[in-house]
Amino acid sequence: MAKILVVEDEKQIRRVIELHLTKAGHEIRKCANGQEGIEQITAEHFDLVITDLQMPKINGLEFLEKLRALGVSVPSIVMTAFGSVETAVEAMKLGAADYLSKPLQLTELSLRVDSILSRNQIEEENKQLKKELAGKFRMGGIVGKSPVVRKLVERLKPLANDGDISVLLIGESGTGKELAAKAIHYNSPRSEKRFIAVNCGALPENLLESELFGYEKGAFTDAKKTKIGIFEAANGGSLFLDEIGSMPLNMQVKLLRALEEREIRRVGGTKGIGVDVRFIAASNQDLESLVKEGRFRQDLFYRLAVATVNLPPLRKREGDIRLLTLHFLEKFNSEKKRAVKIKAEVFSLLENHRWTGNIRELENLVELLVVTAADNEISISTLPESFLHGNKLTWESLDEIEVTGQLRAAMENFERKFISTCLGDNEGNVSKTAKEIGISRSSLHSKIKELKISRQ
Ligand SMILES: Nc1ncnc2c1ncn2[C@@H]1O[C@H](COP(=O)(O)OP(=O)(O)OP(=O)(O)O)[C@@H](O)[C@H]1O
Ligand SMILES: [Mg+2]
Repeated sequence: MAKILVVEDEKQIRRVIELHLTKAGHEIRKCANGQEGIEQITAEHFDLVITDLQMPKINGLEFLEKLRALGVSVPSIVMTAFGSVETAVEAMKLGAADYLSKPLQLTELSLRVDSILSRNQIEEENKQLKKELAGKFRMGGIVGKSPVVRKLVERLKPLANDGDISVLLIGESGTGKELAAKAIHYNSPRSEKRFIAVNCGALPENLLESELFGYEKGAFTDAKKTKIGIFEAANGGSLFLDEIGSMPLNMQVKLLRALEEREIRRVGGTKGIGVDVRFIAASNQDLESLVKEGRFRQDLFYRLAVATVNLPPLRKREGDIRLLTLHFLEKFNSEKKRAVKIKAEVFSLLENHRWTGNIRELENLVELLVVTAADNEISISTLPESFLHGNKLTWESLDEIEVTGQLRAAMENFERKFISTCLGDNEGNVSKTAKEIGISRSSLHSKIKELKISRQ
């Protein structure tokens, strides 16, 4: 099971421990003092060390100190004479995981050994899982070989490495802002800590505040007990502020203060709590024009946009549509245990599409195609009707849109028309519409709010 080193000067006790733990299935090595212990432990790997404290030459405490100085990290249990708790405390300070009083109780010994070994195992497994996750979000997790995507990855790398610099991700809906944020986090020195995403557009101001900063017991009627907020939960890690452009102005002030002071106050609380997080913000609206319109605070903009990264829309990623289609095909085939293939003729149609919903739209389409493919083959006839004829907006209905004046206003008019038409076609069903036009539900919700679209 585990390999254990026993360091004990009394031969009798060494022998008893060895017999007992060998019977439990462990592999035991023994030595009579700290000096020998150091030699053993630098020569081979151990899962656990059990050491006496009173020993000739190098005693137990010196032994632990030495291990620490050598950078050997192995969990240890110290054995101490009955009553000398102070030395045990000293040993725990030096990193011992537990202590046992002498005379030894063998059942006690087994219990402590098992508990430390299983704690160890869970920690190992967690590390492994995190590594796998990191692998998934390695920069290579951003699929694409077009020059714009290569440039994007090169831009993200140093920002990830730094670990502290605030990054603002700007890109149309579905261009992979969240994916890029995760790539930054999981490739940063903070990768072992949490990545927490919060959608700043989805919550009303008061909820957003208690969500971000937490609240003290009694801060408001429903605050039955103190709750920590996202800032505190993400401490040491990264906080992804999604749709930052939709954050209410009042909240922007509070966020800026937290950013500048690196400290937060829970709702209803008076004491400042220090937090250390990296901020990654994302927006699908051009924040600078929001600043000009007075809808976004300039000081907050500068604070968040220390480094700005633009995510290119899919239509500018030359050659990536095919690659991404195959990537998603592989993904959904494996998720759905299918073996669907795609006919070459389909690609030219895909490459001519406008992809307003970008990579998400493509991903959703591929999922649909895998599900609906007859005879495990995607051909032109598998593509949805609406896809073949473009979107359901007709030229006649486009005529009604006011396209004079400023570009931004014209675009908003178009978006309003487009979204309300699609919503109408889906009887106001937001999820369905979002999927169809290739944006996230939350983006659609904020668009509906922002553009004052009626859901009827
Ligand atoms: N380059 C890429 N390679 C592989 N998958 C990608 C890539 N870019 C995006 N995706 C996938 O596309 C989907 C949408 O990406 P993501 O959620 O990161 O976009 P977003 O910009 O945050 O969208 P929104 O503005 O709608 O919130 C996700 O499933 C993501 O994994
Ligand atoms: Mg997103």
